[in-house]
Amino acid sequence: ASRAEGHTRFAFKPIDIATDHAVHVPEGYTSQVLVRWGDALWSEVEGAYSPETGVPAEMSDKVFGENTDGMELFEVDGREIIAVNSEYVNPKINLPAASEGVPQSSEEVMLLKNLQGVTVMEIARGDNGYQVVKDSPYNRRITHETEMVLAGPLAGHPLVQTNADPEGRRVKGTMNNCGAGKTLWGTYLTCEENFNGYFGATGAMPEGEGYIRYGIGGEGRYAYEKFDERYDLSKEPNEPHRHGFVTEINPADASSTPVKRTALGRFKHENAEMVQASDGRIVVYLGDDERGEYLYKYVSTNTWAEGEPTEGLLDDGQLYVAKFNDDQTGEWLALTPETTGMEQAEILCFTRMAASAVGGTTMDRPEWVACNPLKAEGYCALTNNKNRGVKPNAGGDDTSVNGPNPRETNNFGQIVRWAPADENHAAEAFTWDLYVMAGNPKVYNNAYAGSANINEGNMFNSPDGMAFSSDGMLWIQTDGDDDNEGEFEGQGNNQMLVGDPESGEIARFMTVPNGAEVTGLCWSLDKKVAFVGVQHPGGAWPDGAGKPRSSIVAVWREDGALIG
Ligand code: FEO
Ligand code: CA
Ligand code: CA
Ligand code: CA
Repeated sequence: ASRAEGHTRFAFKPIDIATDHAVHVPEGYTSQVLVRWGDALWSEVEGAYSPETGVPAEMSDKVFGENTDGMELFEVDGREIIAVNSEYVNPKINLPAASEGVPQSSEEVMLLKNLQGVTVMEIARGDNGYQVVKDSPYNRRITHETEMVLAGPLAGHPLVQTNADPEGRRVKGTMNNCGAGKTLWGTYLTCEENFNGYFGATGAMPEGEGYIRYGIGGEGRYAYEKFDERYDLSKEPNEPHRHGFVTEINPADASSTPVKRTALGRFKHENAEMVQASDGRIVVYLGDDERGEYLYKYVSTNTWAEGEPTEGLLDDGQLYVAKFNDDQTGEWLALTPETTGMEQAEILCFTRMAASAVGGTTMDRPEWVACNPLKAEGYCALTNNKNRGVKPNAGGDDTSVNGPNPRETNNFGQIVRWAPADENHAAEAFTWDLYVMAGNPKVYNNAYAGSANINEGNMFNSPDGMAFSSDGMLWIQTDGDDDNEGEFEGQGNNQMLVGDPESGEIARFMTVPNGAEVTGLCWSLDKKVAFVGVQHPGGAWPDGAGKPRSSIVAVWREDGALIG
């Protein structure tokens, strides 16, 4: 039996692993699909989705996108609105088989572009649980084509000027939206992660460390550059400098213009965890998900209080990179022209290089950051590192083992936790420990067995998504190896677990279909329903026939008690 069983802070009996193509939740809980890739957001495209052919291009910007990821729920005029990312599309699922996953026309490129980005949708509870409210005035799709503005110190700089936008202030689209965040003033933060893969060069490739370090160049992964010059590096070398940001969206106004917040830096943004420091300033923690990259935080210059204007809070501030010392102390190193030798605009465009210049600590792929609502502490999921010492995109940093990344080969991952000095998230000093080192005590009896809070009943690999519920419990979602073999034997499909920050105990709450990762978590306003994202499922889940469909699942307690 799991050590978590019977513990007062877990309101459920932990579940076993699964290896099937289904969703499992604890006894006394029910799960139900809320929305699937291809489901209509407006009644005019009802029935657009076909199990054989997917979504027709001409309706592709009016349906729920593919590969659901980070999400947040907002209260707007008493209604419940979810903003949710669609991280990427699987071309083989969306395009005719003959194309072998490579788009053959601009129409096919448009289909793929439309199924990515962000969906804003109203949901409401009826007799059959929560449903999407079709035709709600809040419903909105934001894609590669949506007009947005660049804000902050990089806006207008020559590095972000293009033929289509010689001023460098208006950008089309957001892409590869991975994790998310919510501002204290009720807007959505969508995080642009692997944006590099959409760009390619049909002719001469522009040169520079700024391309190499971000993995930009060669042939694009999706051939967009062959049908749309915006993605062609030989024609628009500055276009990739306009992506890789945290973008702010107002879910209360479907006609509002999204804003790319350059002050939060440009890298492969995982999520954006905003908290208010005890001195009133706004702090946003930010992970850069690549082997050997860094954990960051942004601190606003001005303080803020509820009801005050928010102007400038995400444009005027200081970006820092984390340095973890081996003695469990650490410091946030400011990225300034003095510390980096780079201009302010360059720091925000080539943030990775600035962080290397000041000596940040290289990490095992920083994924989501979550902060405890009951005390001043932060957690970052370091998902895994299969290739230590080999930095994929140069940079020259030493990526060997260090304090929070202590294992040579790291196929399991760990979660690092820090407490800011004086319980002030804006402080430059902190102390840290490892909340958990994932591992497999069934296969190993060394460091790869994991930390003391891992046992055969709760083991997992590759922590990724994380969020705190209002009761101060840490929800952990995995995106790992689910073949249940070799060193992953006994870990089963990807899963969602709940961790108690105080006791360290961790219990398995949910498993998802084989092939899928769990990513994205938010709660209904009354905290009785959890919404959980199931990305890239295998088999034919959830329909039982046809294509696999990434979906959001609603989970609730049958006795109507709180879940989050
Ligand atoms: Fe999109 Fe790092 O996960
Ligand atoms: Ca992730
Ligand atoms: Ca993933
Ligand atoms: Ca991941």
